[in-house]
Amino acid sequence: MKIFEEIESDVQSYARAFPRVFHKARNEFLYDEEGNEYLDFLSGAGTLNYGHNNPIFKEKLLDYIANDGITHGLDMHTRAKGEFLEAFNEKILKPRNMEYIVQFTGPTGTNAVEAAMKVARNVTGQQNIVTFTNGFHGVSLGSLAVTGNSHHRDAAGVSLTGSHRMPYDGYLGDDIDTTAFLDKVLTDSSSGINSPAAVIVETVQGEGGINAASFEWLRNLQSVCRKHHVLLIVDDIQAGCGRTGNYFSFEEVGIEPDIITLSKSLGGYGLPFAVVLMKPELDQWKPGEHNGTFRGNNFAFVTAKAAIDHYWADDKFSTEIKRKGDYISQRLANIVENYGEGNFTTRGRGMFQGINCVNGELAGQITLRAFKNGLIIETSGADDHVVKFLCPLTIGDKSLKKGVDIVEAAIRDVCAGQSSIPEEVDYFDEQQIVDA
Ligand SMILES: Cc1ncc(COP(=O)(O)O)c(C=O)c1O
Repeated sequence: MKIFEEIESDVQSYARAFPRVFHKARNEFLYDEEGNEYLDFLSGAGTLNYGHNNPIFKEKLLDYIANDGITHGLDMHTRAKGEFLEAFNEKILKPRNMEYIVQFTGPTGTNAVEAAMKVARNVTGQQNIVTFTNGFHGVSLGSLAVTGNSHHRDAAGVSLTGSHRMPYDGYLGDDIDTTAFLDKVLTDSSSGINSPAAVIVETVQGEGGINAASFEWLRNLQSVCRKHHVLLIVDDIQAGCGRTGNYFSFEEVGIEPDIITLSKSLGGYGLPFAVVLMKPELDQWKPGEHNGTFRGNNFAFVTAKAAIDHYWADDKFSTEIKRKGDYISQRLANIVENYGEGNFTTRGRGMFQGINCVNGELAGQITLRAFKNGLIIETSGADDHVVKFLCPLTIGDKSLKKGVDIVEAAIRDVCAGQSSIPEEVDYFDEQQIVDA
């Protein structure tokens, strides 16, 4: 089809990696126009945790449409919205002893991040948001200011302000707790870091290369925030909605963020939907201060409620995600032991994992080869050097095995074609060599 080349903007990205015209999809499978089947280990970048066209949600949605349910409702009260809020409160928040106000934002993740930062700034009267190296929070200007990736930042066209960047867990080596640095600069009135409104963090950095912060680091981060009266925002847009094994990615960590952003798989069916959860005392918005036409995607309310009712009424789904996550961990550990000359490493947790292939060219060859063998899988990280496993959480065991087998074969074949596998550069060791 030439139409895409003729009139679609050059900004397209995933379409370049997977140059097919897709036509149908069901759970973990995508089909192109020629009827070829692909296993989907990309899942709409984390939007299809429950698979494509999940039949349980589809039935509810079709019923709703057939009965002339409201499609678009601005931010008006509708039955679908009320039922979503009831389900979210009863089955997600209350069982976890979480008391939060729900703000419906525009339906993209980046709009939820904008709203979260705005509310933090307005409530505290401070401007700056502390963010972390390799963090990704969206590409509208406010979110871009807290996003690390230079490819995205360079496209802003204006200076990106209102943020301070700190090293994420592990950035300065495994032995350095970077929250101690944050504590120090917030204590030192001459550090040049003004008292911030909030810290925004991903517990597992998705776009930044599947970097999973340790639980201890996250707890320390919360302590530093509390000590300095800085709000803690957890951006759970990619790591949340079950991806790491629990509904929220921080549940096992035991922290209590002041603000949480959710989007991507929140709607369940892949329908655009985002919210900000905030502690009740932070809800100091005046009516309409943060608005947007598309804050009432009622189809998404219907499917989001169906997702909660079906998958989160008890802990069965969570147990299943953890079981499959363990399988992925074991397989990936095995792969890095057998290929890549000991230079590849695994990363992530739950069903949010990756293989660090050290350089982007290698990782790109691996995903390309996997695609040729019927698997859609992407890379992430500063150099696109991490092969990112993001299959639907509902995937069957056979398909999960098949997808990992395809990646394993791709790695084996690509590695066989290399004279040597590059070693990961230890930045600090390199410095010592340069200085010596
Ligand atoms: C953690 C995180 N926050 C925010 C966003 C931005 O979401 P959206 O692309 O829907 O604006 C993303 C997107 O990948 C994300 O992973």
